Amino acid sequence: MTTHESIPLAGVIGWPIAHSLSPKVHGHWLARYGIAGAYVPLGVAEADLEAALEALPKLGFVGANVTMPHKERAFAVADTRSDIATRLGAANTLTFDPVNGIAADNTDGFGFIENLREKVSGWDAGAGPVAVLGAGGAARAVIVALLEAGVPELRLLNRTKSRAEALRDEIAPAVTVLDWTEAEASLAGASLVVNATSMGMAGGPEMALTLHEIGPDTVATDIVYARGETPFLTAAKGRGATVVDGFGMLLHQARPGFERWFGRAPEVDDELRKAVLG
Ligand code: ATR
Repeated sequence: MTTHESIPLAGVIGWPIAHSLSPKVHGHWLARYGIAGAYVPLGVAEADLEAALEALPKLGFVGANVTMPHKERAFAVADTRSDIATRLGAANTLTFDPVNGIAADNTDGFGFIENLREKVSGWDAGAGPVAVLGAGGAARAVIVALLEAGVPELRLLNRTKSRAEALRDEIAPAVTVLDWTEAEASLAGASLVVNATSMGMAGGPEMALTLHEIGPDTVATDIVYARGETPFLTAAKGRGATVVDGFGMLLHQARPGFERWFGRAPEVDDELRKAVLG
C-alpha cells in the first residue's frame, strides 16, 4: 500500500460543488496554522461516489466532508458510524483510516448548536419551547441536536405535514407536529424559531410568514447561509428578535473534521469570516 506521510489531503465531495465554501474555510485554517496539507473541492457524480471513496485514501486523503446529494449514500458505505450519524442516517464528515476504513460522522447539529452558543451569550436550550419550520434533510440534524441539548418542547411545522410526521416517527419521537395553517400562531412563546425551509432563499419560494407572534425574547435563526440578510431574519428583526444567520453553522460544523485530519483544533472568529466571505 502506498503511504502518504507528509502531506495530508482532505476535501468536500458533492455535486455540484463549485459553490461550496468549505475549501475556503479549511484553506484559511491550513494557512493560518502553517499546516502542510490541502483541502480541495471534489465534484463527484452519484454513480461515482463509491469508486471515489475507495480511491481517495489511496491517493493520500485522510478524510472528506460530504454534501448534497451524497450524505445518505456516504453513510451507508462507511465501515464505522458515530451514534449521531446512525440516528440521522446521513454523514457529512468522513475519516479514512488504513486499519478501520471509512468512519462516518455527522457534525451538522454540532455546528448549529455551537453557532447559537457563539452568537447568543448565555443561550440556554432549556429556556423555553422551540419551533422548527421545515422537515427536509437540513432540518433533521438540527432537530436531533436541539432535543439532545435539552429543549423542553419542540414544535415541528412543515407545509407537508406527513413529512414532519415521518421525521418524528423515524428519528425524533419527542417532537410535536403541528399544522402548517397554524404556523404563525405556533410561534407564540417560542424562545427559539428555526427556519429550515427554503422560504426566502435565493431562487426559493417567497417568505410567507410575518412572524407576528415573536418578540424581543425570541432568538430566530436560519440554517442555510445566504449572502445578505434573508427575508426570514429581516421579519424577525422587525419584531425585535435576536437574529443569528446560518453562516456560523457552516463554519462550526467544519471544526471536528479539521481537527481529526490535520491535528489542530481550529478557531471560528472574524478573521475566518473575512477570509471566507472576502
Ligand atoms: P433540504 O433538504 O435542504 O431541507 P428540501 O428537502 O427540499 O431541502 O426541504 C425544503 C423545505 O422547505 C421543506 O420543509 C419544504 O416543505 P415541504 O416538505 O412541504 O416541501 C419547505 N418549503 C419549500 N417551499 C415552501 C413554501 N412555499 N412554503 C413553505 N415551506 C416550503
